[in-house]
Amino acid sequence: MTDHPWWETAVIYQIYPRSFQDTSGNGVGDLAGVIERLDYLSSTLGVDAIWISPFYPSPMKDFGYDVSDYCDVDPMFGDLATFDHLLAEAHRRDLKVIIDWVPNHTSDQHPWFLESRSSRSNPKRDWYVWRDGITDGSPPNNWAAAFGGGAWEWDETTGQYYLHSFVVEQADLNWRNPEVEEAMLDTLRFWLDRGVDGFRIDVAHLIMKDPELRDNPVVAELNDDFPLAAYATQRHIHDRGHPDVHEAFRKVRAVLDSYQPPRYSVGEIHEYDWPTWASYYGEDLDGLHMPFNFAMLRAPWTARHIRRVVETVEEVVPPGGWPNYVLGNHDEIRVATRLGENQTRIAALLLLTLRGTPTLYNGDEIGLVQADIPPELQQDPWGRNVPGMGRDGGRTPMQWTDAEGAGFTQPGVSPWLPTSADASTRNVATQLKSPDSLLSLYRRLLAIRRQEPALRLGAYQSLEAGRDAFAYLRDDGRSPVAVALNFTGDVQPAGSIAASGAGRVLVSSGLDREGRVVLGELELGPHEGVVVKLDR
Ligand code: GLC
Repeated sequence: MTDHPWWETAVIYQIYPRSFQDTSGNGVGDLAGVIERLDYLSSTLGVDAIWISPFYPSPMKDFGYDVSDYCDVDPMFGDLATFDHLLAEAHRRDLKVIIDWVPNHTSDQHPWFLESRSSRSNPKRDWYVWRDGITDGSPPNNWAAAFGGGAWEWDETTGQYYLHSFVVEQADLNWRNPEVEEAMLDTLRFWLDRGVDGFRIDVAHLIMKDPELRDNPVVAELNDDFPLAAYATQRHIHDRGHPDVHEAFRKVRAVLDSYQPPRYSVGEIHEYDWPTWASYYGEDLDGLHMPFNFAMLRAPWTARHIRRVVETVEEVVPPGGWPNYVLGNHDEIRVATRLGENQTRIAALLLLTLRGTPTLYNGDEIGLVQADIPPELQQDPWGRNVPGMGRDGGRTPMQWTDAEGAGFTQPGVSPWLPTSADASTRNVATQLKSPDSLLSLYRRLLAIRRQEPALRLGAYQSLEAGRDAFAYLRDDGRSPVAVALNFTGDVQPAGSIAASGAGRVLVSSGLDREGRVVLGELELGPHEGVVVKLDR
């Protein structure tokens, strides 16, 4: 049990740096702010690793996912010295640091693209995907941009189109060019040499497309209400996920493995066919360490559906591979809004007791809700292009205190996105004082995950339960732990957990259940979840 690498036993916490902690007083979070909050992360909350969304120099057309220099820090967030300091301070607290790596596209202001677009004969021309229009001058194929409109932009100067899978200012790199591959692997080495512990790889499945650039099949009519949402009308079989992607990640993996100790990678893979998803671990586990598992964000929130997700994950992760679970991130609707207050507590119990690495999004530990951002304050390019798709509501500033600015920024400063309306009551300081707050529940869960080897590493086994309950065992062969979760507001009758054994309650979703329980006699109250350490 001791030879598991840290990423299998860790709980990862995602920091969206713009919204975490502002120390410069400009209403945007920064790296110095992350340093200020490291004690909260490591001691108060008790996570093991942080993943920081992009802080690279960027024109911020997609808030940092449009990178203009892979080897520096945007002045808005600090500088390389601040980053080095952050890394040292995190490591001093035993916190690993994962950074975002955006290989599919650069900003159109990246020097590589400026060169590439300067002339057809520029040596970097082929670093991006340039094509002539078809005979009538229209774009080379029917591919659509994820954030609205077509995926090809006409370039007047050189008379060709370039590919952009996201906004116009995010030009797709040509990963079929070996120079691009080498230059991008060098950007990994730059950060590995500084000591980062791993990378979260942005839209990892997108980097290899059909070499013939064939049209995607169209499966739905373009809706008049959303004329820009062509993306949703296609099956994305040619603009992403070409099998050559695995060779590229083998090379990424080789770079990570060449460091001591070896470093970690987790890919953002929006792939919902399970075998295809699992293929990102690599044929001989020589691919990504993990493809993010977003299935819980999509599955209907019922005991039956969630149980099926977990059982499928247990089945499809290749032997020797390690599962992971995600409940939220900066692209999704906040979990507290998706599930409501009660089931958000059940989700916390689930996330932190399954077999697999949990990733927790900043603010979800206090139940931040999806904010309603008025149109004039909207920032996200997706929401501006395609009404209803905006992600700003899940990116509002972290709420630390009940002060004006929520402790995120100084009073009198307007944050880049408004703090949520409930900031004076829903914040870290207030929740720390209350034993029945969501934050207190997260702290208890993180503490027992550290304490109980079965929760970190034990085998997973489903237990039979009533229709609306989900129960399972985590067994390390020594001190097993059972978990039973009620997904509804109805009482689950005693005996619905058809398992033998009795034990002591480690954590319950409310504070009302303590002491000993006999599993077969357990009656779960409305929205109740319990974690029980079984007698052996
Ligand atoms: C990923 C990121 C998202 C970004 C997109 C383009 O999906 O998570 O925030 O907009 O890639 O880089």
